[in-house]
Amino acid sequence: MKYSKVLITGGCGFVGSSIALYLKKNYPKLDIVCLDNFIRQGSQLQVPRLKSQGIQVIEGDVRFYDHLEQVKADLLIDCSAEPSVSAGLDGSSKYLVETNLIGSFNCLEWAKENKAAILFLSTSRVYSIQELENIAYTESETRFEWVDVQNDIARTKQGITQEFSTKGPVSLYGATKLSSEHLVLEYAKMYDIPAIINRFGVIAGPWQMGKVDQGFIALWVAKHYFKQSLTYNGYGGLGKQVRDFLHIFDVCTLIEKQIVKLDSYRGETFQVGGGRSNSVSLLELSELCQSITSHTIDFARNPETHCNDIRILLMDSANTEKEFNWTKQKNIKDLVEDVYHWIQQNEDLVTDIFCK
Ligand SMILES: NC(=O)c1ccc[n+]([C@@H]2O[C@H](COP(=O)([O-])OP(=O)(O)OC[C@H]3O[C@@H](n4cnc5c(N)ncnc54)[C@H](O)[C@@H]3O)[C@@H](O)[C@H]2O)c1
Repeated sequence: MKYSKVLITGGCGFVGSSIALYLKKNYPKLDIVCLDNFIRQGSQLQVPRLKSQGIQVIEGDVRFYDHLEQVKADLLIDCSAEPSVSAGLDGSSKYLVETNLIGSFNCLEWAKENKAAILFLSTSRVYSIQELENIAYTESETRFEWVDVQNDIARTKQGITQEFSTKGPVSLYGATKLSSEHLVLEYAKMYDIPAIINRFGVIAGPWQMGKVDQGFIALWVAKHYFKQSLTYNGYGGLGKQVRDFLHIFDVCTLIEKQIVKLDSYRGETFQVGGGRSNSVSLLELSELCQSITSHTIDFARNPETHCNDIRILLMDSANTEKEFNWTKQKNIKDLVEDVYHWIQQNEDLVTDIFCK
């Protein structure tokens, strides 16, 4: 490991804390600082877990540069965000833009000042909603399916490639991430900052405080576990929307490989999704949750589709797999089982989060 100290912003969130603990386990001598403003419900629960492994936790907000200035390090992993694609729909755009865009800018300024490398977490939601919705699809018993394509540089059997359109609208969340990607690239080139951008699809796993608008896989398992109802929203309320997903363990193994090679990148972008082979519809997820928890729950149906909704979103990550000699190891059954066991073992801790 070339780096001696890493700052993880949003380090008490699901992804940030998981990466922190994974790195600490594999590199015990690495100094790790997790900075978080604890806005996400459940983020406080990460503090004792992190501290017990010798990881420093500090309260701070990426919207304010002086909060970052408290820390000196040679690597920054930016996991702080308002991560919901629905953010702003209620008229409250300010926090989203300030955290996701000004926060990224502050992280880049900090990286420049500290001569630190940076890993930036972006999203598959940078792609054009309209263009995604225009892709021809069929409908099976349990899911919507994109019609197969041949000889299309923007789409393969596994999903869209990086050639796919990012022309807006992409949601305000997607726009803040896409704008941040541009900034990361410019800072990396102009100031010679080692940097990688990852466009992640859905990430899920234990310790994710899932809610309706973000973290649906953990939410689905929890609602089955606690025998509470759920709603199929959008697209006729059929529950046939499809997403690709990655288990957080697979995300951590990729991040580790990227850190090792980070010095040779200057803002290159990589797609990191599960693709067609690691994808699930809500209906399929419900069936699996039912079989793993042995609980059957009630579902409401809300047919109304929102402006930020996407019927199917799958990414082809072949380039990333090749570049970092990385393969995902966990499938949907592993994922649901791991989340189930986590909830079972921490029922007292998470009941309030999932049973509001
Ligand atoms: N989880 C996913 O499915 C997914 C998919 C694609 C990209 N991402 C990206 O990965 C990153 C981590 O997402 P996550 O799932 O861990 O979300 P999360 O909400 O669990 O974690 C984000 C953390 O950032 C903190 N935070 C929010 N605003 C902050 C601010 N202004 N200053 C400091 N801390 C702040 C929150 O308290 C939270 O602990 C985000 O950038 C997100 O956009 C996540």
